Amino acid sequence: MAVLIVIIGVVLGVCLLSTALLRWNEMKYNKKGLPPGTMGWPLFGETTDFLKQGPSFMKNQRARYGSVFKSHILGCPTIVSMDPELNRYILMSESKGILPGYPQSMLDILGKSNIAAVHGPAHKNMRGALLSLVSPSIIKHQILPKIDEFMTSHLSNWTDQIIDIQQKTKEMALLSSLKQISGIESSSLSKEFMPEFCKLVLGTLSLPINLPNTNYHRGLQARKNIVRMLGELIDERRNSKETHEEDMLSLLMSGVDNRYKLSDEEIIDQIITILYSGYETVSTTSMMAVKYLHDHPKVLQELRKEHLGIRERKLAGDPLDWEDYKSMKFTRAVIFETSRLATIVNGVLRKTTKEMELNGFVIPEGWRIYVYTREINYDPCLYPDPYTFNPWRWLDRSLDVQNYFFIFGGGTRQCPGKELGIAEISTFLHYFVTKYRWEEVGGDKLMKFPRVEAPNGLHIRVSNLST
Ligand code: HEM
Repeated sequence: MAVLIVIIGVVLGVCLLSTALLRWNEMKYNKKGLPPGTMGWPLFGETTDFLKQGPSFMKNQRARYGSVFKSHILGCPTIVSMDPELNRYILMSESKGILPGYPQSMLDILGKSNIAAVHGPAHKNMRGALLSLVSPSIIKHQILPKIDEFMTSHLSNWTDQIIDIQQKTKEMALLSSLKQISGIESSSLSKEFMPEFCKLVLGTLSLPINLPNTNYHRGLQARKNIVRMLGELIDERRNSKETHEEDMLSLLMSGVDNRYKLSDEEIIDQIITILYSGYETVSTTSMMAVKYLHDHPKVLQELRKEHLGIRERKLAGDPLDWEDYKSMKFTRAVIFETSRLATIVNGVLRKTTKEMELNGFVIPEGWRIYVYTREINYDPCLYPDPYTFNPWRWLDRSLDVQNYFFIFGGGTRQCPGKELGIAEISTFLHYFVTKYRWEEVGGDKLMKFPRVEAPNGLHIRVSNLST
């Protein structure tokens, strides 16, 4: 009996304490003018619910509080906006004091000149330099031939093997970028670079606790090693008498047509930015395209027709050129439809640098804004039958120029690597569908949130198309 009373007492005590803590936390953030919503537990907020329930947490909160609500996720008091109009406005409002709001671990590891860490004239300079590196003319004359050369070699001997397409597309995204940046391909530097880069990526997604064996600590160490390797590469180039084939590094070192002069430190952060921004986006979109094509034979048939048509117009072994790339209308539609249906990017983060009014609400200084764009991808008014993989929908209308197309972000920070990313994925698909047939080995799990990934890899059995 005594034991029972103690147990009941403990349970009651825990309940009372929990209620008091939750109340206290709500009171703490109960400022006039804030949007409705709940703040969860002190310190942790609603992060666990957000990560566990993912999109349904967001949908439930929207059902209760509307398209703009407050929460406390990922260590910060946060305003979540699922309102397309407001999202557009926020993305256009950098000059009004709404800046990128990425976590500290990301900024520490990507460097202080990283594009997400700078704003105003510094952002203009870094962005201008980057846009000049990936202009249509440079993609046409310099980058596309490099991507083509890389893909033919990367996809050269997959026949009669079981491969993990997640691993292959990750290697592809990183190694192809390294080749574009500095011609590095299968050199010892790329072998040394890859494991460090993977640690860097993990570090940016971790809690900023700098103790041995934490991902954050490993990420900082990896950054140091990468900065050293890139620094040596720059010194080598500078001291070498040989003229070097033009690549992104040579353009950056020459000041990109003398328009954008970057210091060595800025060049290194710019390179890390390019590698980082194109890594998961390009690799995951490529992996998911393979997945959807496998599950939708009619789409695969149409895509293959487009690419075999290109091959028929060329001699065997001829590289893809700009005209071929521009003719890949259905491929582009497959890439957009993959990004939409899989939601490769759930949204982007911003923060307020002063108290401001948004949609009639008063948002305090220093709050994070989660511009959550996922749900717009499944809006039946924009995309009828939204859960169906239907690339043809992109051919009927110019959906990618409509106001609520956020797959590549929007406003002043819209993705400058959009065309480069599409060129890489298109070239990958070209060689993949013209050389190979494949089937899934089966049983691999796919996670959709907080990011799209196959925790144990996505294994496919590959064979030659012609056999
Ligand atoms: C399918 C591929 C890609 C997708 C879906 C994608 C998506 C995005 C999105 C949503 C943003 C907006 C971030 C924000 O507003 O905070 C963005 C920004 C950015 N992306 Fe991409 N991206 C892709 C490929 C690439 C590639 C290949 C590069 C390499 C150059 C790149 C470089 C960047 C950079 C540097 C920014 C920041 C721009 C700024 O802050 O001004 N992206 N991307």
